[in-house]
Amino acid sequence: MIAKVIDRLEREKSRAVDELVDLLRIPSVSADPAHKGDLRKAAEWLAGRLRAAGVKAEILETPGHPIVYGERLDAKGAPTVLIYGHYDVQPPDPLDEWTSPPFEPVIKDGKIYARGSSDDKGQLLTHVHAIAAWLAENGSLPINVKIILEGEEEISSVNLPKFLEANREKLKCDVVVVSDTSQFAPGIPAITYGLKGLSYFEIRVQGPSADLHSGSFGGSVANPVNVLAKLIGDLHDAKGRVAIPGFYDDVKELEEWERKEYASLPFDEKDYMRITGVPALWGEEGFTTTERRWARPTLDVNGIWGGYQGEGGKTIIPARAGAKISMRLVPNQDPEKIAKLFEAHVRKVAPPTVKLEVIPMHGGMPFFLDPKSPVFEKAALAIEKGFGKKPVFIREGGSIPITQTFKDVLGADTLLLGWGQHDDRAHSPNERFDLGDYHRGTLSSAHLIGLLGK
Ligand code: BES
Ligand code: MN
Ligand code: MN
Repeated sequence: MIAKVIDRLEREKSRAVDELVDLLRIPSVSADPAHKGDLRKAAEWLAGRLRAAGVKAEILETPGHPIVYGERLDAKGAPTVLIYGHYDVQPPDPLDEWTSPPFEPVIKDGKIYARGSSDDKGQLLTHVHAIAAWLAENGSLPINVKIILEGEEEISSVNLPKFLEANREKLKCDVVVVSDTSQFAPGIPAITYGLKGLSYFEIRVQGPSADLHSGSFGGSVANPVNVLAKLIGDLHDAKGRVAIPGFYDDVKELEEWERKEYASLPFDEKDYMRITGVPALWGEEGFTTTERRWARPTLDVNGIWGGYQGEGGKTIIPARAGAKISMRLVPNQDPEKIAKLFEAHVRKVAPPTVKLEVIPMHGGMPFFLDPKSPVFEKAALAIEKGFGKKPVFIREGGSIPITQTFKDVLGADTLLLGWGQHDDRAHSPNERFDLGDYHRGTLSSAHLIGLLGK
């Protein structure tokens, strides 16, 4: 049975690429209200594709962008798998750094270049193709499948938790499958057993009520940009640790076997420096680059503003300054608790010479699933069949907060089976996805459906 499904996927390889091109042409940027119509267009495209495959699909409204829901429940007694993906994408800016327009896909050296190619349109489509091929060959699936494709992942899944809570029964499943992460490296497929959580803030520092002459007033009133810069600088200590009291209290420490496993993976610091373009690496003392990326919490300024940015100089004490600051959290840190610690800390260290506003934005839970858990067995085998190589078990620094919500609300574990690569440039100009990975991901999904049905 599976052999015929695989044959069909081999035959239809180029059609699958054409379909990805179609979907990538829709600029479904969830953060930008100007693209509201494009999100609906992408949702309709996907619902249409699912229906053509033989999946019952509907578009469900939310206060934000619509959810595409599909199901095919014809395998009584067999397990039910919930497949999740997101059809929204990050804004394409800065546009002038793209070598081809972000929503006009171009194929070069076996990779497709477009916003959303890897994150997450290319990855989510692999499951659609696999289901379509199974249905075309057998007329039914060996498992029950439910599908949720959302349009708000990149804006922190604002409406999805409510949707899950309101539809517990409808969404009941044995396991969730998500392809929205990466392999360890080309030729080294991976299963991700841990993700980071998130706590996000904006802070605003107000000094004088208007910009002041820095000669007349300098040295007599505090400069909000100076104050903000010092405050931010002091958020790390000399060892690269986050200097917020209590920040590390709940951190799940790396286990010995994890440190061993990570160290045994082929990792080249020179190569990592080349990919990132930095002249030297940095991070928390006492941990390797991989450990820092996967299993240690971090704090980063995502944006900062204040004062004069135009041509030439302007001698002022700026009236105000601000920054966006995010903390990536690891198991078992709690975003709400960390948010409280952060706010209390910056309020305490801010001098009385300025007014401080601390605005919480969003948070998200970290994710962790013991890699020895038996749910991984069939997934690992499916990947081995699809990629010709056993997967390694990794964690990643990105966040998919809804994975923990699947556990909390539906009681289901999530299998993070990612087909991307770390240098796919997700969220960055010239995002790309390897078409070989696209195909091997599709084959793996087809195998997984077969194996779970046994
Ligand atoms: N696909 C990513 C998550 C990801 C990134 C997993 C890197 C593994 C490695 C997802 O689309 C994403 O970008 N998530 C956001 C979440 C945020 C908006 C709440 C993130 O990590 O910044
Ligand atoms: Mn994603
Ligand atoms: Mn993303």
